[in-house]
Amino acid sequence: MTASYRAMVIEGSFGLENLLLRERDRVAPGPGEIVVRVRAASVNYRDLRMVRGEYNPKQALPLVPLSDCVAEVVEKGYGVGLSIGDRVCPLFVQGWHAGEPTKEKLGTTLGGPLDGVLREEMTLRAENVVKAPVHLSDVEAATLPCAYLTAWSALVEQGGLAAGQTVLVQGTGGVAIAALQIAKAMGARVVVTSSSDEKLARARELGADETVNYKHTPAWGKKAVDLSGGRGVDVVVEVGGAGTLGESLRAVRPGGIVAVIGVLAGAATEVNVMPILMRNVRLQGVFVGHKEGFSRMCRAIEQTGLRPVVGHTFGWTEAREALALMEAGGHFGKIALLFS
Ligand SMILES: NC(=O)c1ccc[n+]([C@@H]2O[C@H](COP(=O)([O-])OP(=O)(O)OC[C@H]3O[C@@H](n4cnc5c(N)ncnc54)[C@H](OP(=O)(O)O)[C@@H]3O)[C@@H](O)[C@H]2O)c1
Repeated sequence: MTASYRAMVIEGSFGLENLLLRERDRVAPGPGEIVVRVRAASVNYRDLRMVRGEYNPKQALPLVPLSDCVAEVVEKGYGVGLSIGDRVCPLFVQGWHAGEPTKEKLGTTLGGPLDGVLREEMTLRAENVVKAPVHLSDVEAATLPCAYLTAWSALVEQGGLAAGQTVLVQGTGGVAIAALQIAKAMGARVVVTSSSDEKLARARELGADETVNYKHTPAWGKKAVDLSGGRGVDVVVEVGGAGTLGESLRAVRPGGIVAVIGVLAGAATEVNVMPILMRNVRLQGVFVGHKEGFSRMCRAIEQTGLRPVVGHTFGWTEAREALALMEAGGHFGKIALLFS
C-alpha cells in the first residue's frame, strides 16, 4: 500500500476552476472499517450545485465532491464481514440504514458535508456500504447510490408502484432515465417528457410508452391526462420543481402521488393548493433513500437484469469536463468517471 492517494478537491473557493488534483494521506482501517479503492464514480446534478457553491454556500472547504461510486475492498479492520476484493457501493446517506431519516442522519451525506468519492481511496465504516449487483460493469454500478436509489425510493418504497399503473417521468437526465427503467421493470406504463425529440426517441428505445416534448407542448400535464385515457397518471417523478409542479398537479390522478425530487426548473414558486386537497393528491418529498431500500433495489436489479444507462464516460481527473457537460444539459442518462 502506498502512503498517499490522489483526490480531486474543491479548494479555496467554489467554482469548477477550483476543483484541483491533490495528494492525501491514506487512513488505515480501524475496527469495523474498510479501505476501498474507487473503480468508477458518477455525477449528479447536486454535485454541480455543490461545486458551484449553490447547494450549501456554508459548506466548509476543502471538500472532495461527488457521492456515487463503486469501489473494491482492499483492506479491512477487525470484525469486518466483507472480503478483500468485494465490490461495494457506499451509501449516499452514510448513517441512514432504515426507517425515517433524522436531522443527524441527513447530515451524513457524501460529497458534502462529508468528503465524497472523487478520490482513489476511501476509509469507511463497513456497515455503510452495500455489495454491488454482480452483473453490472463498474460504471453501471457507480450510478446506483443516488440517482437509481432516488428513483427506486420515489416509485417503489414511497410510491408503492404496481404493475399496470402509469408513471410520468420528466426529462432524460440521470434520475429520470433511472425512473423510466425501474417503472418498466415493475410493469408500469411510462410517459416521458423532454426538450429534445432525439432524446425522446432514445427514451422509446428504452421502453417509454408515450413521449411528449415539453417545449412544443407546454401544457404537457393535460397531454399526460389524455395519454392515460383521461384518468391521470398514478405517480409523477417531479425533477423540475418550481417550474413544473403546476403541470405535474394537472397530470396526476385523484389520489395519485407527485414525488418531489428536484429543482432543475427552480426551487420556489407560488402554488395553488386547491388541486392538492380537492383531488386528494399526495406530495411526497424524496431524499435519496436508506440502506434497506438500496439492498431491495439491488435484489430487483439482479432479478430483472436491469442495466443503468450511462450516456458518457470520462477519466476521473476529467471531472470538470464531466460537470461542464451536465451544466450544458447535453447528456442522456448518467455521466460516469472511470478510475484505472
Ligand atoms: N431528492 C433527491 O434525493 C435527489 C436525488 C437525485 C437528484 N435530485 C435532483 O433531481 C434533479 C435531477 O437530477 P439529475 O442528476 O437527474 O439531473 P440531470 O441528469 O442533470 O438532469 C437534467 C435533465 O433534466 C431535464 N430537465 C431540465 N429542466 C427540465 C424541465 N423544466 N422539465 C423537464 N425536464 C427538465 C432535461 O432533460 P431533457 O434534456 O430531456 O429536456 C435535462 O437534460 C436535480 O434537481 C437534482 O438535484 C434529487
